[in-house]
Amino acid sequence: MNESTPSNWKSVWTDAGSASELFDGGSGLRTLIPGPGGDISAFVVQFQGQAFAYLNRCAHVPVELDWLEGAFFDDSGQYLVCATHGAMYEPNTGLCIDGPCRGRSLEALECRIEAGRVQIRRQHRTKHD
Ligand code: FES
Repeated sequence: MNESTPSNWKSVWTDAGSASELFDGGSGLRTLIPGPGGDISAFVVQFQGQAFAYLNRCAHVPVELDWLEGAFFDDSGQYLVCATHGAMYEPNTGLCIDGPCRGRSLEALECRIEAGRVQIRRQHRTKHD
């Protein structure tokens, strides 16, 4: 779907939760962020000591990834996995390395930590919302 960005949508930082809740391979922080067509599910995980944020939308079919709320990692803690058909993504790049959408990627979000809080932001886009 192609959709232009409405002029009234602003890309703003959204609080996703406390950075202290993140640990490598652990549960992700879920939140909603504003987008051109309304609020969109997003998440943050920690991998190799760094936080990474993505839209919670599989690159195969646009459904949420987590099989239980906040459960994004596979058992190894090395890959994000989609609960629906098992696509596996690199946590640090969002690239799908196995599954029906191999070679495609999750949409990465900007992520920063301010005063112990994780904040995420989506950049303006002109398509694929
Ligand atoms: S919807 Fe995620 S792998 Fe099919």
